[in-house]
Parts: sequence; C-alpha cells; structure tokens
Amino acid sequence: MSKQFQFKLVLLGESAVGKSSLVLRFVKDQFDDYRESTIGAAFLTQTVTLEDQTTVKFEIWDTAGQERYKSLAPMYYRNANCAVVVYDITQSASLEKARNWIRELQRQADPSIVIALCGNKSDLSARRQVSEEEAKKYAEEEGLMWAETSAKTGEGVSEIFTAIAKKLPLTAPPSARTGAGRAPTGPKSVDLNKQPAGQNSNEPCNC
Ligand code: GTP
Ligand code: MG
Repeated sequence: MSKQFQFKLVLLGESAVGKSSLVLRFVKDQFDDYRESTIGAAFLTQTVTLEDQTTVKFEIWDTAGQERYKSLAPMYYRNANCAVVVYDITQSASLEKARNWIRELQRQADPSIVIALCGNKSDLSARRQVSEEEAKKYAEEEGLMWAETSAKTGEGVSEIFTAIAKKLPLTAPPSARTGAGRAPTGPKSVDLNKQPAGQNSNEPCNC
C-alpha cells in the first residue's frame, strides 16, 4: 500500500504578488486575470503523487497580503510544515516584503519548517526588477528553496509544490522527528497508514 502524508502549507507575501493565483493554478489549473484580493485567508487542498506513489496532501492556507491582515498571519504559519513566500519579479519592493516574512518565519515558526521563496510572474520578464541571481543568492544564504513561477502560464508551479513535497520528511515516523514539540495539535507529519483513530489533521481548524 502506498504511503500517504498530509502537511500544512502557508502562502505569504505582499498583496498582488499572485499567491491566490498560484494556488488556483496548482489546485484547479486555472488562471484569472482579474482576481479579487483575498480577505482574511482561503483554505484549499491538493494532493501530489510522487514517483514512488507516495501521496502528499497539502492543506493550503492562502493568506491575505494586505497590511491590515498582517496580524492574522501567525495563526496560519504557526503549525505549518512548509511555507511558500512569494514575491513579484517585476516589483523589487515585494522581495523586501518576502525577506521580512522569511525573517519572521525563522524567528517564530517551527524550526523545521521548509521554506520556499517563489518569484512569481515570470511571464513578465520584460518588466523584471528582481534578477534571478539576486534572489537565488539570497535563498542560498538562507537555506531556502527557490524557484520562479508564472501562475499565468503555469510555468514552474506544479514543480515547486512537488519539490516541497520531496523535501518534507516522508520516511521518519512522526515520533522519531525532532522539532515537532512546538506543534500543539500533534505530529507535524502524519503517515495516514499509521494514524491512530481520531487523530486527523483534517479536523476543522479554529483559524
Ligand atoms: P492578495 O490576496 O491581496 O494578498 O494578493 P495575491 O498575492 O493573492 O495576488 P492575486 O493572486 O490576487 O494576483 C494579483 C494580480 O496579479 C491578479 O490580477 C492576477 O491576475 C495577477 N497575476 C497573478 N499571478 C500572475 C502571473 O504569474 N503573471 C501575470 N502576468 N499576472 C499574474
Ligand atoms: Mg490572494
């Protein structure tokens, strides 16, 4: 029987960088030129199947980038196993915002969180303000995954989520993992084959 895992993923980043668009592309393979700005946060799920048939179900919290929602963010990243911090390659200020989010995650999120820095809107490279080299260098220095994506064309989108799935702890039983102690809701990764009855991280969240 193939292994199944479930992880909580949070998207963070300045408003209008394309967080919701990335999720829409990943979950429904759609794109919308006129997307409404997110209010509060949105919740979606999507499952990735790896080559060895292991399945990774992402419980995705797509947060609102507008400043007025900033104080809600810790609620979403607190028990997250992974974070995608998004900037817009045509807006250098959005990389600054992404750096702030990454600093906050490094200080406040679980120490074992897997963080991916994502430069979105690669289809607009003619208007590029952030070079690949600059972002890649920063990601390397901070030990982050990094990729450029286009929610519009789909380029790089499924790849970044698959790369995250592969980086997550898919072999060690939850009890053998360190750093899980800060997650008040239980194990950080859940092997559903071994899951005791009633311990389902799909239970309604008070977020
Ligand atoms: P908030 O919800 O306010 O935090 O914004 P967001 O980060 O979720 O951005 P959203 O996905 O709503 O996208 C903002 C705008 O950018 C929309 O008009 C999208 O159509 C557009 N957009 C998103 N991704 C891309 C992309 O890859 N390429 C292009 N050209 N436009 C994009
Ligand atoms: Mg949004």
